[in-house]
Amino acid sequence: MSFYITTAIDYVNAQPHLGHAYEKISTDVLARHKRQRGEDVFFLTGTDEHGEPVADAARDQGIEPRVLADRNAERFKKLAARLNVSNDFFIRTTDPQHETMVQEVLLRVYRNGHVYKGIYEGWYCPRCADFKVENEILEGNLCPIHEIPLTRESEENWFFRLSSFQERLVRLYAEQPDFVMPRHHYNEALSFIDSGLQDVSLSRAKLKWGVQVPWDPSHVFYVWFDALLNYYTALTYARAGEDLTARYWPATYHVIGKDILKFHTVYWPALLMAAELDLPHHVFVHGFLLGADGRKMSKSLGNVLDPFEVLDQFGTDALRFYLMRDVPFGADGAVGMAAVRTRYDTELANEYGNLASRTIAMIARYTNGHIPDVATDSALASEFDVLPAEVAAVLDRADPTRALDLIWHRVRRLNRYVEERSPWELARSPDDADRLRETLASLGEGLRAVSVLLHPYMPETTERLLGALGSPATEFDRALFAEHGSGARISPLEPLFPKQ
Ligand code: MSP
Repeated sequence: MSFYITTAIDYVNAQPHLGHAYEKISTDVLARHKRQRGEDVFFLTGTDEHGEPVADAARDQGIEPRVLADRNAERFKKLAARLNVSNDFFIRTTDPQHETMVQEVLLRVYRNGHVYKGIYEGWYCPRCADFKVENEILEGNLCPIHEIPLTRESEENWFFRLSSFQERLVRLYAEQPDFVMPRHHYNEALSFIDSGLQDVSLSRAKLKWGVQVPWDPSHVFYVWFDALLNYYTALTYARAGEDLTARYWPATYHVIGKDILKFHTVYWPALLMAAELDLPHHVFVHGFLLGADGRKMSKSLGNVLDPFEVLDQFGTDALRFYLMRDVPFGADGAVGMAAVRTRYDTELANEYGNLASRTIAMIARYTNGHIPDVATDSALASEFDVLPAEVAAVLDRADPTRALDLIWHRVRRLNRYVEERSPWELARSPDDADRLRETLASLGEGLRAVSVLLHPYMPETTERLLGALGSPATEFDRALFAEHGSGARISPLEPLFPKQ
């Protein structure tokens, strides 16, 4: 089965912050999990490089937009690599193939009669690249997201007839109640549609930094239309000489933050209808990482946590774990260095790391470096029986936090099992030899099974551990707790999460 998953593409007007990292990691967990289950996954991420946000930032720095885009796109790419994000392609909206496809699709929309010329006047936020409606504007005429002054803009634009898709959108929402998840965001999108859709501007006349409108070269497309189409255009050129559209379109999941809900749940399906393209199956909406001040982490509010700093101090898997564990997917959550340290010390080092090092050390010492090839403890095994199916079901609802919690309960269960069985006591009496072997076979097996499930969250750490357990396979069916110890030879393991 094919599974096409995307993240939002990030603006290159500034450097990446932890909020960007959060979205890429959550999407990666879902993509890796689906790959474990043998699905034919395509995972797309990238950068959004046109429009006012980038043109203005470049102007402020006295450089060409292209130079700023090149510089920051590199940083986003580097971040994705450091986060160990397993994207299959990284799109940049300045890729010439993307630009050509945007023109092609939007020309079709124009020819299909969904575009007309008109005058737009309204309050505009240059950071959002979006006009604001009166009831969302903050006191003092500020943008509700960036809290910067809005500007009054009026210009001749090409318009997209969004209003004419009202009925079809209402029908889509009725027929596909899981089109937008979680549910409260579905309701939010639907009530936006129900409140009456207005046509939206499709082009900008003042701006030069964008994709040229093919039927009116004095205009460039409004950045959001160019950006949204990335999900479609990427498939046409991600693989040289191959068009992946038939294989992966439409997208299975678009993962986005709640500030860009309207674009993905209203504009995007309408645009696809206008272009006669199939609609995505689901849009998954996550919340915001909040800075220490309790507000959305954002470059314009100056409360950002630098992901590279966290990575340097704690490492990739610790950051991945921390974000998936501490910020329930779909909700907002405050983040900070102190909280990363707490999770690192209490859970990664003391619970998982310690379980791994104790288990390996005891197998080395008591059973000659081999995981005993004997029956595992069936009572313990039964507590793990349903786990893989539960984790898969929860991840199918795009809830990586809940799935991680289910897995973590079993990590704790294994630590309790060590205490209950006290292998060091059993080792003292030859009468307990069988019980000791059963205990170590079960611990080895339990640790292996939870590590397979943890693999999408912490790929590098779990690979090291599974390697040391002599069972490197990470396919999903390997997450079952086997009735027999593996008999594999273990090898030494450096601490997974060294004390800092
Ligand atoms: N370029 C647009 C998206 C176009 S998608 C066709 C954009 N870029 S962005 O850089 O501002 O944000 C990219 C993604 O990061 C969005 O999904 C956004 O919600 C997410 N986040 C930005 N700040 C965030 C937090 N503080 N916390 C969590 N996610 C955040 O919007």
